[in-house]
Amino acid sequence: MYLATYAQRLLCVFGLGMMLSACGGTTEEPATPTYTEVYAQMKSACGSCHATGGVAAKKFVVDSASSANTYTSIKAANLITTADASPLIVVGKGGMYTPAAGGAMMTHPKNLTDSMATSWAAWITAGAAQN
Ligand code: HEC
Repeated sequence: MYLATYAQRLLCVFGLGMMLSACGGTTEEPATPTYTEVYAQMKSACGSCHATGGVAAKKFVVDSASSANTYTSIKAANLITTADASPLIVVGKGGMYTPAAGGAMMTHPKNLTDSMATSWAAWITAGAAQN
């Protein structure tokens, strides 16, 4: 009798745990940000070097006053292709690039965090609209 009750309890607790984990939403798709959100992150994560007069200005420029100018710069440099291949993400996450001045390929600093990369990839997959 005691054993049966114990087993029942165990089943109940286990079953409840399964139900709760099903509600946990761990398999949800990442929320797709707007370009305004991506641009805000870009300003803080990339703008220090990718700015007019900055060390990385030749590749693209984050205009801290204009999201539209920034968008044009990124598009002109062809930094958005697909979520997996876009140099904006691949290089920003610490990939390789060819310096504008020529010479051997260099490793880019990992300025793009993994969570930002996931978020930016969702924006690109959704069409990388300017808003
Ligand atoms: C500490 C400085 C620094 C920061 C911050 C920085 N970069 Fe760069 N990045 C560079 C330099 C230097 C280059 C090469 C510039 C050159 O060759 O003229 C470069 C080049 C690039 C390129 C060009 C790759 C190619 O194939 O031509 C991309 C894309 C890029 N960075 C993305 C990013 C992104 C995205 C961020 C922010 C998440 C970022 N960078 C932040 C220094 C930086």
